[in-house]
Amino acid sequence: MEDTMFRIGFIAAALLTLASFPTTSAFAKDTVAVIGTGRVGSALGPHLAQVGYTVVYGSRDPSAQKVVDLVAKTGNGATAKSQADAAKDASIVILAVPWAAVEPTVKAMGDLDGKIVIDVTNPLSFAGGTMTVAVTDGSGAELVQSWAPGAKVVKAFNAMSSRVMADPAIAGGPVTVPMVGDDKDAKAKVAALIADLGLESADLGPLANARYVEGMTVLYMVPLLDKRPGDMFEFYLRKAPAKAP
Ligand SMILES: NC(=O)c1ccc[n+]([C@@H]2O[C@H](COP(=O)([O-])OP(=O)(O)OC[C@H]3O[C@@H](n4cnc5c(N)ncnc54)[C@H](OP(=O)(O)O)[C@@H]3O)[C@@H](O)[C@H]2O)c1
Repeated sequence: MEDTMFRIGFIAAALLTLASFPTTSAFAKDTVAVIGTGRVGSALGPHLAQVGYTVVYGSRDPSAQKVVDLVAKTGNGATAKSQADAAKDASIVILAVPWAAVEPTVKAMGDLDGKIVIDVTNPLSFAGGTMTVAVTDGSGAELVQSWAPGAKVVKAFNAMSSRVMADPAIAGGPVTVPMVGDDKDAKAKVAALIADLGLESADLGPLANARYVEGMTVLYMVPLLDKRPGDMFEFYLRKAPAKAP
């Protein structure tokens, strides 16, 4: 009898402990450097902090008022530093700067060896009011990998709205984040981060496939460029049913 009471007490205590954790997880999560404090940076940063990640913004001007405000909004111990210092502090680096700034930014961050670099960027130019694909041989992500050869580059989040990154619920249904990269463990980590944000990942293979994932953005942009905002969409890849034997 005493033994049974002890067991019940132990289970109740364990359940109470579990119930006191937030819905995501109270276990320590990675420090993520969010490089760029524009639409993407200010969408992903606060949401990542909300689900338990420590965010360090990498900015050209960490003392700018917009960055100070973003850090305050982000909370959970968020900070802002130079791009290089932010990357130094983190195991995951999210690259969220305009394409023209990607090469100098990656090179300025210095040693990214061993770090997971999530490349959110799109090699697109909007000069002269038209959209041009800036990389036609290969992909932007492979160039990022060539500029940071020791990093584990994973392309993700490039073909979706920053508003949905901040709040997936506004999409009105599930949203897929296609993901490509050459490092299996890095992709597993990014898939977990994507799930933490309430989004679904789809592993579409090696980094060499980044050209197709970047092509999805070109398709994504069509209603916007045609000035048909009512026709805008988010990608959701539904798995085909298994073939009958
Ligand atoms: N907007 C979207 O919905 C969306 C969705 C998916 C992917 N993307 C891709 O994500 C990347 C960032 O897009 P975004 O919409 O966040 O861009 P954005 O609003 O223009 O912000 C980019 C940020 O990058 C930093 N930056 C560094 N070097 C820069 C430079 N030379 N010129 C301008 N900004 C510079 C700035 O932050 P600091 O001032 O703090 O340095 C700036 O706020 C792009 O490659 C884009 O294609 C965008």
